[in-house]
Amino acid sequence: MENKILDTKGVTAAYGESQILWGIDLNVASAKITTIMGRNGVGKTTLLKTIIGLIKNPEGTIQYNGEDISKLPPHKRAKLGIGYVPQGREIIPKLTVYENLKLGLESTTETTIPEEEIYELFPILKDFRKRLGGNLSGGQQQQLAIARAITGRPKLLLLDEPTEGIQPSISQEIAKILLRLKEEKNIATLLVEQKIDFAKGITDYYYFMNRGKVVAQSKASEISIEEINSYNSI
Ligand SMILES: Nc1ncnc2c1ncn2[C@@H]1O[C@H](COP(=O)(O)OP(=O)(O)OP(=O)(O)O)[C@@H](O)[C@H]1O
Ligand SMILES: [Mg+2]
Repeated sequence: MENKILDTKGVTAAYGESQILWGIDLNVASAKITTIMGRNGVGKTTLLKTIIGLIKNPEGTIQYNGEDISKLPPHKRAKLGIGYVPQGREIIPKLTVYENLKLGLESTTETTIPEEEIYELFPILKDFRKRLGGNLSGGQQQQLAIARAITGRPKLLLLDEPTEGIQPSISQEIAKILLRLKEEKNIATLLVEQKIDFAKGITDYYYFMNRGKVVAQSKASEISIEEINSYNSI
């Protein structure tokens, strides 16, 4: 593979006695979109949380730019350039759009929000910067969650089901943004997604998970929609 920004080997994770991940080997190439697919409950979110450090991995290594980060706390991983957009977005409803963006500064040594850059990508956030996060639509909150991660100046973005509960027209806008982040800012994305219509337009490389394991992987150019559907219906 060309330049790897992330490389996990044999990663496991558990909630108490219940083991969820069973030795995950995964590579993410720099400035590419890598998509993890798989049904509900197979461990996709657990994997992203393990990569950002919210869940400990008892076994295996997580290399980011060649450095093993698997013992670092989440804020240190974030400061190295890993942005995380959680499933369900986790916008703070009582804070304004601008205040939500400011939270992204906790993930960087920079001290200012890159406002021009963000409002250029998400014009709606400029108009709404004084509105409360809780008053935004689901699609707008998703845009805000991505913008908050960008405030942390990531080189790798972990993005968990950004289209969940969002209108198709906004999903298309989000797809365009992800392509721009890749092409204009060289940001690598590790996307968790169940909607093939969204994933197929932007993905460079696929992983398919089932029951806490990677069961298949392929370059996007070498796999058909039928094969993708078959892995997703295991
Ligand atoms: N905090 C938790 N404590 C105990 N078990 C959990 C916890 N979070 C998730 N699980 C369990 O771990 C397994 C994997 O969950 P996970 O959220 O990683 O799946 P997922 O692939 O992201 O699913 P979805 O597509 O529904 O988001 C599931 O069986 C789930 O019930
Ligand atoms: Mg999930």
